[in-house]
Amino acid sequence: MADSDVRIGFVGCGGIGNEHLKIWQRTPGAKVVAVCDVVPERAAKAAELYSAEAFTDLTEMLKKADIEAVDICTPSGLHAEQSTEALEAGKHALTEKPIDINLDRIDKLIATADRTGLKLACIFQYRFSPEIQRAHQLIQGGRLGRLISGSTYIKWFRAQSYYSADDWRGTYRLDGGVLGNQGIHSLDQLCWMAGPVAEVDYAYIETIERDIEAETFAIAVCRFESGARGVVEGTTNCFPGFGTRTEIFGTKGSASFDGNTVTSFRIEGEEIDLTTKQDKDGDASSDPLALGLGGHAAQMLDFVQAIRQDRDVLCSGRDARVAVDCLNKIYQKAGAPPLGV
Ligand SMILES: NC(=O)c1ccc[n+]([C@@H]2O[C@H](COP(=O)([O-])OP(=O)(O)OC[C@H]3O[C@@H](n4cnc5c(N)ncnc54)[C@H](O)[C@@H]3O)[C@@H](O)[C@H]2O)c1
Repeated sequence: MADSDVRIGFVGCGGIGNEHLKIWQRTPGAKVVAVCDVVPERAAKAAELYSAEAFTDLTEMLKKADIEAVDICTPSGLHAEQSTEALEAGKHALTEKPIDINLDRIDKLIATADRTGLKLACIFQYRFSPEIQRAHQLIQGGRLGRLISGSTYIKWFRAQSYYSADDWRGTYRLDGGVLGNQGIHSLDQLCWMAGPVAEVDYAYIETIERDIEAETFAIAVCRFESGARGVVEGTTNCFPGFGTRTEIFGTKGSASFDGNTVTSFRIEGEEIDLTTKQDKDGDASSDPLALGLGGHAAQMLDFVQAIRQDRDVLCSGRDARVAVDCLNKIYQKAGAPPLGV
């Protein structure tokens, strides 16, 4: 470990957490020196694998471990509270998506980041490929003309066994359903490209053939702040699980995305080829951990470099809030219970 390495305290050694730990091992400029999980065996196993100190309580880790930053991979409804606690303890915070599911807690977290001046970042790996970042720049620069429509479709599959494996999954308090968990990537992509949603005109959610509280199927019609309109359709009932698709079109052109790949980008009268050349990254439409991890690696590197260079992260707390705002507007319109309480 080099003196200049960012010393990381890691929280939540479960499914995606173990993937983060592997990525940290090969991320230049970073070293995991402490790990924390409420399940002692998980913390102990990760501590042994990565030569780190084991904790079963975040507060204790923040007090005792010699760390500069935390990486949080716990259930979604814990992200804001834990990140806020870390910032209050003087540590930079990176959290898995969503930044939380409850807007009040997210607002408190963002205010804490502003006040402390510490870095706050949220993983949204669909934002991380050169082509998708260029597409975003061009759309934000008005190159598709006046935006008319932005829509996203999430046709994924999760069996009952996935939900039954962990008691936080599919709950209104800690997770939400297809939109709060799997679909939040697509809501982020939609709002990152088409801008924030001003209002949801229609929303319907239903839990189909799964024993969970939250929805496995959702449809909504949204109006964006730009005036564009569009559709959100998401499900985890669609066997065997197809990819995601986000489509944006304006008066001068159109764009289409599948995960972090650009599948089409056309502007009338111009030759712009942004379609992604490499093979499509793995995706999690059928299997939660079959996702490609290139976006994660790029974003985790961005986090440590932002700390060392004292610059903004590429996906901040404020950036990540927009998708959760859209999610909550859909829930409200559908008459669903509030999330994260
Ligand atoms: N970016 C992605 O593509 C992606 C993929 C999978 C999961 N995720 C997100 O990552 C988060 C974790 O998902 P998962 O599937 O790995 O869940 P998981 O249940 O497999 O892992 C969560 C871990 O957190 C631990 N934990 C729970 N409460 C804790 C606490 N108070 N303090 C410390 N540890 C605690 C659990 O014991 C468990 O080991 C979720 O928010 C999920 O949305 C993101």
